Amino acid sequence: MTFDDILQKKKQGAALSREEIRFFVRRLVEEQIPDYKTAAFLMAVCFVGMTAEETFYLTDEMAKSGDALDLSAFGDLSADKHSTGGVGDKTTLIVAPIAAAAGCKIAKMSGRGLGDTGGTIDKLESIPSFCVTLSEDRFFAQVQQIGIAVVGQSGELAPADKKLYALRDVTCTVDSLPLIASSIMSKKLAAGAHNIVLDVKYGSGAFMKTPADAAALAEAMLDIGRRKGRRMAAVISDMNTPLGRCVGNALEVREAMQVLKGETDGGALREVSLTLAGAMIALTFQLPFAEGFDRAQQLLENGKALQKFTEWIGAQGGDAAVADHPDRLPLSPCALTLTAPQDGYLSAIDAGCAGRIAKLLGAGRQNKGDAIDYGAGLEFLHTVGDFVKQGEPVVRLYTKSEDLRSLLGDLTANLLWFSDKKPQAQKPIVQILGV
Ligand code: URA
Repeated sequence: MTFDDILQKKKQGAALSREEIRFFVRRLVEEQIPDYKTAAFLMAVCFVGMTAEETFYLTDEMAKSGDALDLSAFGDLSADKHSTGGVGDKTTLIVAPIAAAAGCKIAKMSGRGLGDTGGTIDKLESIPSFCVTLSEDRFFAQVQQIGIAVVGQSGELAPADKKLYALRDVTCTVDSLPLIASSIMSKKLAAGAHNIVLDVKYGSGAFMKTPADAAALAEAMLDIGRRKGRRMAAVISDMNTPLGRCVGNALEVREAMQVLKGETDGGALREVSLTLAGAMIALTFQLPFAEGFDRAQQLLENGKALQKFTEWIGAQGGDAAVADHPDRLPLSPCALTLTAPQDGYLSAIDAGCAGRIAKLLGAGRQNKGDAIDYGAGLEFLHTVGDFVKQGEPVVRLYTKSEDLRSLLGDLTANLLWFSDKKPQAQKPIVQILGV
């Protein structure tokens, strides 16, 4: 077998066998395939697609291409969630303590910000002295004792995906369903959890632009996980609007704590978090979704989830008093407040635009390894559907950067949209699959 045979076969639209895909992934990791041939393969997949079997083989071989976490010590209680990426998405900070308070074992590896979307590890690092690296022994002991530990990725999970992802990024081959599904699921399988809940986003701030495309991606990922014996569920949620009122690391931690403390009605953020936590509890304890949701709601309302959150922050060396003293979190100076240009309804907040602005304010990295301004970001004072008066403040921008106007250019012009008519309310969740 040669890689050229495989390339030829894929170009003609035929399905590859497990052996052919294994051959490809092994040679890829051994650096024996030049990038131009791999890029040709990726482009062929974009055009002719992959069958469910091929997508599974590719995922499984990528999952086995590096390190894997063995969570068998937690039996069938290990649970994980994955979001396909969103702006203002701080649900892990709410879902993980709720699920841990219910008895799930959350042994989680999370990522840093990617593109214009934030990452849980950056958010956690905005908590003074919180440690995102733990030795393996301490990681397992913490999960055993308090049910939750979240660390940055260590070792090499799915290195084959790392190579493919880097090439996809520069060859216009990111937006292929089998390539996205196999990329995400290879890392989830290697991360070891028995129960996996996926939050698949659609909209301007997401890879998938429509609910139908997001549902197709979710179905493909559910299929892959189930073939490996994992219990799987997925939630299809809106990412046309940022999730919640804040975008930016410490601002998001502050908002997540407000939801845990019941200080806000929480809106879409609370609903999406409870749905994800409910699905995770339902999967783990084999309950109907409604029961999982009710348990999640109880644990949020009776303060057990908040208690678990402070336990978790303290266990990882962080300042657990932040829950009572949010002013201990960094907050950069408010450099600009955008106001309503006219009387009317706030009809849209563009999530993609909010993500780009947050990054420019310093909440994300322009280049690999850049330092983050943990106190930077956006705080929306109104949500979509609110009536606002001309001149009323709508969003505050926080940053340490000077010369904000030249930094942002005319980007803020596309952030907020107003209309004379009250916009139709958008549901934050359009579908729940698998529970
Ligand atoms: N996230 C991933 O990890 N991979 C993709 O292909 C898309 C989103």
